[in-house]
Amino acid sequence: MREAIAAEIRALLAERNAILLAHNYQRPEVQDIADLTGDSLELSIKAAKTDADVILFCGVHFMAETANIVSPDKTVLIPRMDAGCPMADMITPEALNARLAQLGEMPVVTYVNSPASVKAQSTICCTSANAVAVVNSLPEQELLMTPDRNLCQYVASKTSKKIHYWDGYCPIHDRLTAQDVLAAKAAHPEALFMAHPECRPEILALADAVLSTSGMLNFAKHSENQSFIVGTEDGLIHPLQKSNPNKSFYKASESMICEDMKRTTIGDVLRALKTMTYEVKVPETVRKSAYMAVRRMLEARPMGGSRNRAQKIFISTYSS
Ligand code: 13P
Ligand code: SF4
Repeated sequence: MREAIAAEIRALLAERNAILLAHNYQRPEVQDIADLTGDSLELSIKAAKTDADVILFCGVHFMAETANIVSPDKTVLIPRMDAGCPMADMITPEALNARLAQLGEMPVVTYVNSPASVKAQSTICCTSANAVAVVNSLPEQELLMTPDRNLCQYVASKTSKKIHYWDGYCPIHDRLTAQDVLAAKAAHPEALFMAHPECRPEILALADAVLSTSGMLNFAKHSENQSFIVGTEDGLIHPLQKSNPNKSFYKASESMICEDMKRTTIGDVLRALKTMTYEVKVPETVRKSAYMAVRRMLEARPMGGSRNRAQKIFISTYSS
């Protein structure tokens, strides 16, 4: 049954000249039929480079918006319009402007896990992988960071700059407790603990490495260690195990499941391709401003640092 659906999906992808992207937190069966898997920004940048007419993004709404921001000439579809992100919903452009009116003018650094309308009001975007470098690339010493308070506090601990932070959070990462981590460490004392910077500060203090989802995949692959405790959403266990069949991965908690990330089934993917729904299109004025914030991030150079792989791909795509 699943094979038949997968075959139909592959045939429709070819017919529509479409590319299927799946975030690292998607259901295993969705990740397994995707053309590309990865973190949200990486996926959008790689998809922009292809000659596909259609991007089918299995992830949450802000990710499909980001794909549209960097690929305005492609049709971007999301299989489930109800796949949102509670953290992205914790900020609006109006609330951001009200906060800036209180604080006074200063640069705004916005995590890519945010609505396009908020990116459009921001100076520069960041990801969980480059947030410290982005903050350090700015000439200003004081800034506002949105919307994830945990990522903001993590960055504040790594820079001398004064960071005002937004009080948003990812409910899935924020619910991981020190008790959960200590129990996992006691059960697997040989394992290294990898934590996502969306976790609370007391969790990051217990981590052997603080990493984005792609960072975790890279770390586990190159580490000499054989076992790892994974402090992020449950879906990442699948690609970790797939690319490291001889290593062991343990969940830091059984409760780190993002319902929004799990909404999309392969049945939804098939329906989306048959009906070409649901299209995600950011209004052009918003898209252009949001694109500038994304572009500034991708062109930012940390003091004395060199550009990373995603930046190089982006620059080779857009600097013609
Ligand atoms: P990354 O894959 O960019 O680390 O993001 C984590 C996340 O929470 C996405 O929703
Ligand atoms: Fe949003 Fe957290 Fe779910 Fe990612 S895991 S989509 S940040 S709620």
